[in-house]
Amino acid sequence: MLSRLLLSGFLILIPFSSELGNAGFVQLDGAPPSKIAVVGAGIGGSATAYFLRQHFGPEVRIDVFEKGTVGGRLATVTVNNQDYESGGSIIHSLNLHMQDFVKQLGLKYRKSVAGKMAVFNGEEIILEETDWYLLDLFRLWWRYGISFIRMQMWVEEIMEKFMRIYKYQAHGYAFSSVEELLNSLGGSGFLNMTRRSLSESLLELGVSQRFIDEVISPIMRVNYGQNISIPAFVGAVSLAGAQANLWAVEGGNKLVCSGLLKLAKANLIPAQVTAVSLQTAGESHQYRLGYSSQNEQVSEVYDIVVVATPLQQNVRSGISFQDFDPQFTEMPGSYHQTTASIVHGYLNCSYFGFPDPKLFPFSSILTTDTQGLFFNSVASVCPVNISAGFRRKPPQEAGVYKVFSPRPLEKPELKTLFRSYYSVQVTDWQAYPHYGSAQGLPPVVLHDNLYYLNGIEWAGSAMEMSSVAAKNIALLAYHRWSRQLEMIDQKDLMHKIKTEL
Ligand SMILES: Cc1cc2nc3c(=O)[nH]c(=O)nc-3n(C[C@H](O)[C@H](O)[C@H](O)COP(=O)(O)OP(=O)(O)OC[C@H]3O[C@@H](n4cnc5c(N)ncnc54)[C@H](O)[C@@H]3O)c2cc1C
Ligand SMILES: *[C@@H]1O[C@H](CO)[C@@H](O)[C@H](O)[C@H]1NC(C)=O
Ligand SMILES: *[C@@H]1O[C@H](CO)[C@@H](O)[C@H](O)[C@H]1NC(C)=O
Ligand SMILES: *[C@@H]1O[C@H](CO)[C@@H](O)[C@H](O)[C@H]1NC(C)=O
Ligand SMILES: *[C@@H]1O[C@H](CO)[C@@H](O)[C@H](O)[C@H]1NC(C)=O
Repeated sequence: MLSRLLLSGFLILIPFSSELGNAGFVQLDGAPPSKIAVVGAGIGGSATAYFLRQHFGPEVRIDVFEKGTVGGRLATVTVNNQDYESGGSIIHSLNLHMQDFVKQLGLKYRKSVAGKMAVFNGEEIILEETDWYLLDLFRLWWRYGISFIRMQMWVEEIMEKFMRIYKYQAHGYAFSSVEELLNSLGGSGFLNMTRRSLSESLLELGVSQRFIDEVISPIMRVNYGQNISIPAFVGAVSLAGAQANLWAVEGGNKLVCSGLLKLAKANLIPAQVTAVSLQTAGESHQYRLGYSSQNEQVSEVYDIVVVATPLQQNVRSGISFQDFDPQFTEMPGSYHQTTASIVHGYLNCSYFGFPDPKLFPFSSILTTDTQGLFFNSVASVCPVNISAGFRRKPPQEAGVYKVFSPRPLEKPELKTLFRSYYSVQVTDWQAYPHYGSAQGLPPVVLHDNLYYLNGIEWAGSAMEMSSVAAKNIALLAYHRWSRQLEMIDQKDLMHKIKTEL
């Protein structure tokens, strides 16, 4: 027991780049894997490559396939020589993997620049943030009574339990399914939270319908483009992301992906994987990946494959799985479309009831779930590089705004939100799961040494969730390869870890 522990401690504490003990990495029954493939170079795939390198050591070849741009749903668009996040933008202070990546890579934090938020119901502003924290608290209390406190305590309790994952992973424990992972963190309560709706859970806590409609719903709309019927677990992830202490990466969040690939000494192959087929030789299995390179179909065989892109039909990964028995194709359910429009122009403050833009105090507007509203949110955004003297443009000047909407904005809609504009850059995302469109959580293990990362998004979709899944899959692949099954799906880990120390 002790030696295994030391080994796993060793694996985690010594960075792979260290010259120490390379041989110590792979204590396997059989031969170490010689080639591993990761499909997708978003944060999930890049982090997987990084963690695989840590666990499997310096010898194994790690190929990462990317059909589009490194970063995936972490992406920027350029306006006037400045870049702005168009996909995943906000990171919570307790997202420990993301924090660690930034540290390992020597990147810098970009703190959010202060700005006030308001909630708009299609006719008027119904809730506004002020300069004074106590006044905000008092107003929330006045308007919603104890709902606010109950919701806060609920989210904190969930976060506290979720944070156990870092301990488990630091001790080398892995889970073979999203269900097992959630169950070890928060018992059946967590699993149930992936199956019941947020509004139901909050009402049961005694949170008022009014608070749900005026505060919770706008937060779900800005973060997931969906309503309060989304599952309670992802709802809590979303509410945690609406708290203070948020940050982003200076220069753009996608820098984490390219940085991790470098740190992992991964071999980036800019190609779309079109087929994964099973190769059987006696007892052992390998996987042949087909892809096109310079208009030529080529293929290559791998010992371990991690698919780090959604496999739902409307995401169009283009991968077909061949010669598996039973057959598997797409995952059930679909992804939710959110359009991000980055607009350079003058906000139409009149539309929000402020004819004089000089008197418009808000930097971001969330919306209630009102019929006929064509957008989810509009916010003044900061570039990914902020100089010391940076300030937000006041609304009477032209500024850069990000609008989230369920479909591309039409011209009259743009003319409603903006008095005038210089440019609009549209990104249509298959952004996150359309919660409620599938039953249950997708598998992590698709076959012996074939893994699927993005099932975690059906519990909650965020950069940190993909990072947690990446670490889990690297550990899982390592333990399964080296047949250390006692490191997988262990029960009562809180207790176990205490007694190990
Ligand atoms: C508008 C928007 C706002 C968001 N806001 C936040 C936020 O504020 N905070 C937060 O934490 N999260 C946010 N998210 C969610 C977050 O961006 C995602 O959860 C995360 O980036 C998913 O990363 P991933 O690597 O798992 O998937 P992806 O980033 O989708 O990566 C998959 C990659 O695989 C590639 N690929 C697909 N098929 C193939 C193939 N056949 N061959 C080769 N390559 C292939 C794709 O091109 C892609 O690059 C937001 C998402 C969107 C869209
Ligand atoms: C979760 O749901 C199951 C089945 O409905 C129930 O038996 C269990 O008590 C629930 N767990 C919690 C913690 O509420
Ligand atoms: C939320 O949206 C779904 C469709 O995506 C719909 O079926 C459901 O009724 C909506 N819930 C509420 C409370 O409006
Ligand atoms: C933006 O920040 C990144 C990371 O700190 C840096 O590499 C890049 O050079 C910066 N770009 C500009 C235009 O300042
Ligand atoms: C701005 O909003 C007002 C009030 O809703 C509306 O009458 C006007 O047409 C909008 N557009 C412009 C360009 O002012």
